[in-house]
Amino acid sequence: MTTPQHPEDFLSGLRLRSAREDGVFWVDDQRLGVFEPEAARRVSATNWHRFVLQDRLVDIVRRRHSPEMRWSRIRSAWLTQLHALATAEQHGLLIERMQRALDARAGQDTETDLTMLMQDVALRSLLPVALGGLTGAEAEVVRRDLEMKLSRLVSATPGGVLHHLRHVGVQIRAGLVVRRVLRQRARGRRGREPDLADPFVDLLPELGMDRALDVVTTVLTAIGGPPGTAAASVLYEFVRHPGWQRRLEAELGAVDPVEFRTAPTRAAPVTHRFVKEVLRMWSPPLLLVRRSSYGFDLGGTRLEPGQWYLLSPHLIHRDERVWRRPDVFDPDRFLPGAPHGPADRTCYVPFGWAPKKCVGANIAVVQLMALCHLLCTRYRLTVADPGAVTMALRFAPVPENFRGRLDLR
Ligand code: HEM
Repeated sequence: MTTPQHPEDFLSGLRLRSAREDGVFWVDDQRLGVFEPEAARRVSATNWHRFVLQDRLVDIVRRRHSPEMRWSRIRSAWLTQLHALATAEQHGLLIERMQRALDARAGQDTETDLTMLMQDVALRSLLPVALGGLTGAEAEVVRRDLEMKLSRLVSATPGGVLHHLRHVGVQIRAGLVVRRVLRQRARGRRGREPDLADPFVDLLPELGMDRALDVVTTVLTAIGGPPGTAAASVLYEFVRHPGWQRRLEAELGAVDPVEFRTAPTRAAPVTHRFVKEVLRMWSPPLLLVRRSSYGFDLGGTRLEPGQWYLLSPHLIHRDERVWRRPDVFDPDRFLPGAPHGPADRTCYVPFGWAPKKCVGANIAVVQLMALCHLLCTRYRLTVADPGAVTMALRFAPVPENFRGRLDLR
């Protein structure tokens, strides 16, 4: 399997080939790129519809099967919990946590790395949604694990062996925290929390601890990456487009952000368009690597069971065959009937594809709109050298040389 050194060159190479080869082509000898919107939808819909969790470790060792657990059951537990969490009170708490994390960094004398700041703010505000009720020390270990994972993914120069070994240690400790929390909740020694880990406490006898840990780790990884890079991209577009920033300020002064929960377009239409356009231009993650469980005929190309394929919301969002002027940042393309808007629903996929589509899509949009609200009403953002800021394409789009400060207005 060959991957060119520089991810930016790799992505722009894929984009060129995708345009030439109608969006479906072998990226190398082992991976099929499926970057045509309808083909990506179709492969995802079929590939996962009977997906089950792997057997428990203890059963693999004893060469027997574990109770079957379908992925759809895990997702429905998450979605039920997220539905219960979609109250004005819970969203108010999410926004409060974001504000507390930003307040703690506002008004400092030194400039800070705004990309990492956004990562920290997103993670601190979302951690209780994924795994709540942690002690300060437990939360610190879990956050440290996610930060180390992320720093390997976003850094231009990934840390060496020492960093890797240190991370393995932190990863083991974070895993132990998750196990302890689940076990103590199951035994009644710790309170139950309205978070995305809690449904699996009752399912522990069927799931087993190692599979429960995998499920909770999936959520922690999901909140540890995309929400923070998307938040940094929001800030990036604020800086690049002061005109849009002023439009958002004019809109958001009189809006209560808790209203974003039920009707984002009605509560703040300009802000909602702005966030949608940020997610179109800078969708994290840039590539999703998947293994095919079925055989597919995709135009003239055959994908066999067991082969790997790549999906990319980013490449679909930048495809000139389905978007007009895709490299231009213009939130108004999301106005109803705009000529440069999405041709159909398959062309706008920042949260992926059913049935694996992101379960946190609604909360993610509320969070990004609430961030816009805070930036427009509570803080003043100053960027040290706006001309030096660039968008690097790593595992996700990541603003680089993005140093500056936040002050209270
Ligand atoms: C802007 C923020 C976010 C973006 C852009 C994003 C994007 C994505 C994408 C592209 C996928 C993969 C979908 C696929 O395979 O087709 C995904 C999966 C997932 N996301 Fe998000 N996400 C965001 C925020 C969140 C949040 C806030 C949560 C939780 C509260 C969350 C939870 C998950 C989970 C659990 C999955 C795995 C779903 C599965 O495997 O069935 N995400 N996300």
